[in-house]
Amino acid sequence: MHTTITVIGLGNLGRALAHTLLRDGHPTTVWNRSPHKAEALVAQGATSTTTAAEAIAAGDLVLIALLDPTAARKVLTEAGDAVRGRTLVNLTSGGPDDARELATWAAEHDGEYLHGAVYAVPQTIGTAEASINYSGSEAAHHRWQSQLDLLGRSTFLGTDAGRASGYDVAILAGMYGTIGGFLHAAAMAQAAGISAADLTPKLLSWLTDMFPALSTFAREIDDKEYSTEESSLVMNQSGLATIIAASQAQGVPATTLLPLKDLIDREVTAGHGAASLARAVESLKAAG
Ligand SMILES: NC(=O)c1ccc[n+]([C@@H]2O[C@H](COP(=O)([O-])OP(=O)(O)OC[C@H]3O[C@@H](n4cnc5c(N)ncnc54)[C@H](OP(=O)(O)O)[C@@H]3O)[C@@H](O)[C@H]2O)c1
Repeated sequence: MHTTITVIGLGNLGRALAHTLLRDGHPTTVWNRSPHKAEALVAQGATSTTTAAEAIAAGDLVLIALLDPTAARKVLTEAGDAVRGRTLVNLTSGGPDDARELATWAAEHDGEYLHGAVYAVPQTIGTAEASINYSGSEAAHHRWQSQLDLLGRSTFLGTDAGRASGYDVAILAGMYGTIGGFLHAAAMAQAAGISAADLTPKLLSWLTDMFPALSTFAREIDDKEYSTEESSLVMNQSGLATIIAASQAQGVPATTLLPLKDLIDREVTAGHGAASLARAVESLKAAG
């Protein structure tokens, strides 16, 4: 017996979720603000409803993939009592507090809440390449695990509904920082007459060699123990200043590098020049 599953939100992610469920033979109900996005799924066997409340009432398991937490909050609160007895699995990106707020709201309406952070593009949903981290109701994760596993590898991170988002926003901050570094490197390479395509394999090779240092930095940060004989803040301050000067001389503004230089400078000025580069995080925490 296949469970009836609802998908709320038929953007790129929601359509991929619904398609995967239909492919596995699940009776699937869908709703989208702009109804035309349901047409292709209806042609594949989905049922489309006029309101989100009708769609939520139709499914025991309700997957939500809306643009942002504001949209998710609006759609769910308007659906109101339809969530009673339903398991809401919210895959909408947001911060930990957004997830906690909706978990509390769902509990007040007798619904179960699980938050999911998706590590996939729509094309990989339903394959082993996709992974989704969940937090919130452990009972719901346990009950629906086989259905959730259809979407991608599923990992349960704990009963705090905000935990998956806590990981997610931190991971994505790291990703965007890396992309910022890559874009800067590409602009500098081109200014030196090197194509981005020629640069990238060498950059990837160096990053791959360097990434294990992040685990060392992580231990230093958690233990607040920054003594080092390898790579001091003063040395990195000097190295980064050289790179910034070279970038500016090439006509590439150091927009993505200056914030890191500022953190390093503050730690050196505070007398921590001999400490590990990881100590720069303390200026970031102090600024927060
Ligand atoms: N796509 C990815 O690769 C990916 C990966 C990981 C996580 N995510 C997350 O998954 C969520 C959905 O992503 P997506 O790629 O599917 O986005 P998308 O293609 O832009 O779709 C956004 C969806 O939200 C709906 N929506 C926006 N504002 C709304 C409102 N006020 N009321 C009702 N519905 C509203 C849109 O409805 P209309 O069609 O009517 O505009 C559409 O269904 C996002 O939070 C995203 O960060 C996406």
